[in-house]
Amino acid sequence: MASDTYRWLARYYDHLFEFRRQFDTARESVIGPVLPEVKAACDLCCGTGTLALELAAQGIEMYAVDLSPDMCKIARKKVRGTGLPVHVIQADMRAFVLPKQVDLVTCEFDALNHVPHKRDLGRVLRSVAKALRPGGHFAFDVNNRRAFERVWANTWFLEKDPVAMIMHGGHRRGSDRAWSDVEWFIRSGDKWSRHREHIEEVCWSAAEIRSALAVAGFDQVKAWDAAPFFEDALTPAGNRTFWRARLRPGAKARA
Ligand SMILES: C[S@@+](CC[C@H](N)C(=O)[O-])C[C@H]1O[C@@H](n2cnc3c(N)ncnc32)[C@H](O)[C@@H]1O
Repeated sequence: MASDTYRWLARYYDHLFEFRRQFDTARESVIGPVLPEVKAACDLCCGTGTLALELAAQGIEMYAVDLSPDMCKIARKKVRGTGLPVHVIQADMRAFVLPKQVDLVTCEFDALNHVPHKRDLGRVLRSVAKALRPGGHFAFDVNNRRAFERVWANTWFLEKDPVAMIMHGGHRRGSDRAWSDVEWFIRSGDKWSRHREHIEEVCWSAAEIRSALAVAGFDQVKAWDAAPFFEDALTPAGNRTFWRARLRPGAKARA
């Protein structure tokens, strides 16, 4: 993703996307069991900072990392005045560095799928491994190829004053890449402006994810299909998977 995508999406993200309840439900199973041991954490690809603020409100020192300057700006604005310990860092998930090691890294809402190339998964996992203390956990969710086939190759329309958004999705059958051309119509008084954004995702098989996690030094890998958490038409079984893995206590961070 270029750092200037997620510009309009950043501005209207909290206004338009209201999937938080399903992620809250998933989180109870995925990170709930390890949360009591977490004192410091990082929300990677934090978007507007909602999860970082929520975890900080539970007493966790938070780092919130995102590549989009607009997302970081909004996250900082939401943090300001709360007095909560959330440090927002603009960085690429493939090469981010934290000032100290944390007990948990989260990466929600298929943010991991946003890397430009499939091979970038290894780079992200190495950066996450360096950010974690040995024995710390990485929790993330990904879109699977089934989601690209069943959901992405459609046109979606969302409208909530003052914005209307059309997403024209695409996926080349048999490939591990999908895209969405997003068209924005934004009302200001009685005038409308029109903007475009392009988003791409790549996906991996479960076997590819397990193998990349092992290479980066993770063990105790657990996976959950998202369907029971989401219970919606967009998320039938097989579309989205939640993962949690532990950085092996003896694992050495690799350059
Ligand atoms: C679907 S949003 C998810 C945001 C947030 N995790 C949530 O649950 O609402 C994907 C996020 O990934 C960020 N992103 C995309 N590519 C990135 C990269 N290479 N490094 C860091 N952040 C990236 C985008 O700016 C965006 O905020």
